Amino acid sequence: AKADPAKGADVFKKCTACHSDQKGGPNQIGPQLWGVVGRPVASEPGFSYSDALKGKSGPWTFDELFAWLKSPKAYAPGTKMTFAGLSKPEDRADVIAYLNKQGDS
Ligand code: HEM
Repeated sequence: AKADPAKGADVFKKCTACHSDQKGGPNQIGPQLWGVVGRPVASEPGFSYSDALKGKSGPWTFDELFAWLKSPKAYAPGTKMTFAGLSKPEDRADVIAYLNKQGDS
């Protein structure tokens, strides 16, 4: 099945306690996520990232996001994203498709 951004919008409800997905949105408990696909890791101005995430480099590609969202703690031990992760691969693919689509507009 193809990743479905509309379903991803629904999955994103699990993220909104900590993240804005709005253009120019504020950093909250987590950094704002507008345009995060392709954005360099840990690069949102004004957000205080963990050393764990600052130790990563390169852009957030689909594959990197897919690994991160499966288990943030496994991907970046010491991360302050206290979220267990999305165990279903289709949920991860859908939410990444949603975030990607957003950054386009
Ligand atoms: C970081 C996505 C849920 C708190 C991040 C980053 C992404 C992300 C992509 C890295 C951003 C960057 O490098 O600028 C998501 C998604 C979620 C989710 C898609 C839902 C499926 C949550 C929840 C919380 C949270 C529920 C709070 C309980 C954080 C924090 C960071 C972060 C504190 C910074 C991590 C660090 O510096 O180690 N998130 N997140 N996130 N998120 Fe989330």
